[in-house]
Amino acid sequence: MRFDIFTLFPEVFHPYIDVSIIGRARKSGALEVHLHNIRDWATDKHRTVDDEPYGGGGGMVMKAEPIFAAVESVLGRPPQAPVILLTPQGRPFSQKVARELAELPRVALLCGRYEGIDERVRQHLVTDEISIGDYVLTGGELAALVVLDAVTRLLPNVLGDPDAPDKDSHATGLLEHPHYTRPAVFRGWEVPPVLLSGDHGKIARWRREQSLLRTLHRRPDLLAKAQLTEEDRAFLRKLLSEDGEALPSED
Ligand code: ADE
Repeated sequence: MRFDIFTLFPEVFHPYIDVSIIGRARKSGALEVHLHNIRDWATDKHRTVDDEPYGGGGGMVMKAEPIFAAVESVLGRPPQAPVILLTPQGRPFSQKVARELAELPRVALLCGRYEGIDERVRQHLVTDEISIGDYVLTGGELAALVVLDAVTRLLPNVLGDPDAPDKDSHATGLLEHPHYTRPAVFRGWEVPPVLLSGDHGKIARWRREQSLLRTLHRRPDLLAKAQLTEEDRAFLRKLLSEDGEALPSED
């Protein structure tokens, strides 16, 4: 999959995209990241990319011309791939949206800065808008990295365990079960004995129940939409049946 990222700060991407899973995905060819500095398409001698807002008020607005020029020179006119603006006004990013994007061969990410971006970019160039949460960042770069990261780990041949994304928190609509590794006892705190039992049926059931318990405690809103089996529902009913009693704690 190919990402074209349009930004005023291409240098902030390298420390992240050069290492670990994303770095390896780029080396293997599963992922291509092309960084484009919008300023390279500014035409005046000061290479201006922002200007004062019409109507007054504080802050600066990113100009339309260099953004259109950058995106159209890389992706064609009209652009031959979705152009996604990262903005707190976009649709909320989620694992579902990540899966949707991971199906595409190519995506352009446009990172805003300053107070905003000329509305004509949004109306006539951008095809989708994504927000990574209800807070305001100083620019879209971190949001673009979040999207790039979540999508990349879903691409074929990127993770060592090809089934890993199916087990993640949110993949099934539930939060994932807890994990343990050696030693079996650390500072007196023991690993749950079932995990040392070698009984894979029991381990799978324990993990599923932990996942249900954790979701019920931390994100009960997710349960309504989760894919639950009859056994899951029975377990949840049992947890909730002792009317008035506190739910069992996670620990
Ligand atoms: N740019 C600034 N804040 C943002 C957010 N929350 N999500 C996406 N892009 C942003």
